[in-house]
Amino acid sequence: MEIQGKHYHTIWMKEGNSETVQVIDQRKLPFQFEIFDLKTVEDAFFAIEKMVVRGAPLIGVTAAYGMYLALLKFKGDNFEKYIELKADYLKSSRPTAVNLAFAVDEMVDFILSKKLNSELIQQTLKKANSLKEIEIDFSNKIGEFGLEIIEQIYENKNETVNILTHCNAGWLACIDWGTATAPIYKAHKKGIPVHVWVDETRPRNQGARLTAFELGEEGVAHTVIPDNTGGHLMQHGMVDLVIVGSDRTTITGDVANKIGTYLKALAANDNNIPFYVALPSTSIDWRIKNGLTEIPIETRDAEEVSEIEGWNGSEIQSVRLIPEKSNVINYGFDVTPARLVTGLITEKGVCKADKTSISELFPEK
Ligand code: MRU
Repeated sequence: MEIQGKHYHTIWMKEGNSETVQVIDQRKLPFQFEIFDLKTVEDAFFAIEKMVVRGAPLIGVTAAYGMYLALLKFKGDNFEKYIELKADYLKSSRPTAVNLAFAVDEMVDFILSKKLNSELIQQTLKKANSLKEIEIDFSNKIGEFGLEIIEQIYENKNETVNILTHCNAGWLACIDWGTATAPIYKAHKKGIPVHVWVDETRPRNQGARLTAFELGEEGVAHTVIPDNTGGHLMQHGMVDLVIVGSDRTTITGDVANKIGTYLKALAANDNNIPFYVALPSTSIDWRIKNGLTEIPIETRDAEEVSEIEGWNGSEIQSVRLIPEKSNVINYGFDVTPARLVTGLITEKGVCKADKTSISELFPEK
């Protein structure tokens, strides 16, 4: 998608340099646009852990390139052990998004299935590139299937379709298009009037900072709201549809997504508003059935809650929000039970959030 009229992906190989991966530094948006270089597997770990990159699909693809960077630096003799250690290290950077483990395992299987020779480096880079291309393709297809839902609402309503979203499941969280935002971009490009209610998404404000930024760059009408506003809007008929993303979805349709998603699903359910989750199959954890008990929920630094970051006119600055001695807890994600999810929008189509429907769409899994 576009920033200041120029097309970007969120991650790419530096031009003319096959040893440097580049990403957009999302810690700085929307105030500053900076490119961050990844030259080692430690840089990839740092970028994921500190949220230079974030969002389930992008975390996965960054980790895939991280394995490539690890391979570049291999010296010594216990190759298999080295690759496995680096894989475990990368997987420990953030626990909730299953895309991370999925991408790392794909890379490990690929690397260890080949011979360690001069061609392996090129082949591994190609493999990481292909995981990136798959995510772009999945987001594009999610956009097409989700567009049908928006079109249907527009046909019935014949007025602007109001969509609420939480966090940033936009192209910045993916490589291009996004998941929750892909149908919105497709509708906007098709001339369907859409307006997005953007939850600010405390504590890191991915909605206020990132979703608002990318929608603005694409010219999509939007309004940033405090996280507590959604229920009120729904009660007053101001929301036609909720679309969110997912960090990990069980085969039974439970969805882990940014903290606060569950409360939006409850409010949508109480007001008979469709609540859709847009996700690539790389966010489905095929091994687990119970989201509440089986999905690990990341706990992040207290400072994300006790302080707030903003632009003071010349630089990004943090200020304290709460009394110095107050305790803080910062869960990054919550689980929305399948019963509150109207449907899952995937790259293979839209299905109910239950095991039978998911299995019908993905019989190979
Ligand atoms: O902590 P973040 O910013 O990585 O959380 C991101 C989300 O919760 C997204 O909604 C999710 O990863 C889906 S991204 C397409």
